[in-house]
Amino acid sequence: MLESIMKNKILVTGGAGYIGTHTCIALHEAGYEIVVYDNLSNSSREAINRVSALISQPIEFIEGDIRDAESLKQVFATHQFFGVIHFAGLKAVGESVAKPLLYYNNNVSGTITLLEVMTEYDVKNLVFSSSATVYGDPETLPIDENSKRSCTNPYGQSKLTVEHILEDLAVSDDSWNLIPLRYFNPVGAHPSGQIGEDPNDIPNNLMPYISQVAVGKLAKLNIFGNDYPTTDGTGVRDFIHVTDLAQGHVAALNYLEQQVAPVGFLPINLGTGKGTSVLELVTAFSNVSGQSIPYQFAERRAGDIASCYASADKAKNLLEWQAKLSITEMCQDSWRWQSMNPNGYNVKDI
Ligand code: NAD
Ligand code: WQD
Repeated sequence: MLESIMKNKILVTGGAGYIGTHTCIALHEAGYEIVVYDNLSNSSREAINRVSALISQPIEFIEGDIRDAESLKQVFATHQFFGVIHFAGLKAVGESVAKPLLYYNNNVSGTITLLEVMTEYDVKNLVFSSSATVYGDPETLPIDENSKRSCTNPYGQSKLTVEHILEDLAVSDDSWNLIPLRYFNPVGAHPSGQIGEDPNDIPNNLMPYISQVAVGKLAKLNIFGNDYPTTDGTGVRDFIHVTDLAQGHVAALNYLEQQVAPVGFLPINLGTGKGTSVLELVTAFSNVSGQSIPYQFAERRAGDIASCYASADKAKNLLEWQAKLSITEMCQDSWRWQSMNPNGYNVKDI
């Protein structure tokens, strides 16, 4: 009995954020007990309130920073966790170029502090938010987990560095279970329309930008490049619905619970395996929302690659997980979230 209680409790760092909130719901639905730890640097209490409302019970939420070892120790001393899902991190590529120290401090030092506290409390199961960005400009498509890794910006470098740290940790001590999940392009929102992606300022990413054009907050989409070697000349990405992504985390935890021997360092792609072009996404969004999405072609964005999509076989074979939702559903749910919450949570500074 005690064993099963321990296995069910999960610390979710960054659980107030975009992917974290959706994963909290999926974890709750799968029977996990969750504790959310977040410094609210890119999220709000309102997001937590909405998750609580959706699961019809209060979320145990601790406002804290992963770089604060004493605060983390208090959390680990109070709860017996089966493992940690580690979302907490900064994610804006452009900002990381302007503020590399902030990104390395937050994403790398913060993760080291978390790992040190996990070691002290003998919690050795970690699911880490990695990214397809660690593959850089891929040599072959689809991208599988053995593809070469390289990064060109501090954000990507911070993810790759954490992966290297996890690899070294697994070598140093074979009791660790460390699963970096390499997300492709998460989009969409909870079907309730209550939670979704809430970028500060003007969005950098494509889907929130399209949504804000559709809702009339932004005038026009700039499509960065129409001369890529792709079907229509625009960039191709593997968009994945955030609720599918959330289920991928549940599958990773289920997998860890079933293992009799430690898995060490086990990277797994979370993608659909399908590429969709920027223009195809714009068309799908326009069809679903009934809104026109004015756009113009602009210069390629520095650092962008032509095409990126996953081999999703490892997740299917090991985790028995695969993405289910289509581009249409991704657009429908993004549009519902955007149109119901034109200003997002709108309470960031409360
Ligand atoms: P998000 O910004 O919405 O969520 C991250 C959360 O972490 C936020 O709530 C933020 O307040 C919190 N946080 C940041 N630094 C913290 C710190 N030092 N201590 C405690 N909390 C902290 O981002 P997201 O889109 O939900 O991404 C979650 C994770 O997935 C991130 O690590 C991100 O790098 C990674 N990722 C995201 C994408 C994407 O496109 N959204 C793709 C690949 C990987
Ligand atoms: C997708 C496509 C753009 C905006 C980024 C990070 C990556 C990961 C996911 C965290 C590209 C085009 C975009 C716009 C456009 N995040 N685009 N006009 O660049 O694939 O990945 O988010 O790990 O690390 O780099 O996603 O949504 O920014 O761009 O034409 O206004 O849309 O050029 O082809 P990307 P994105």
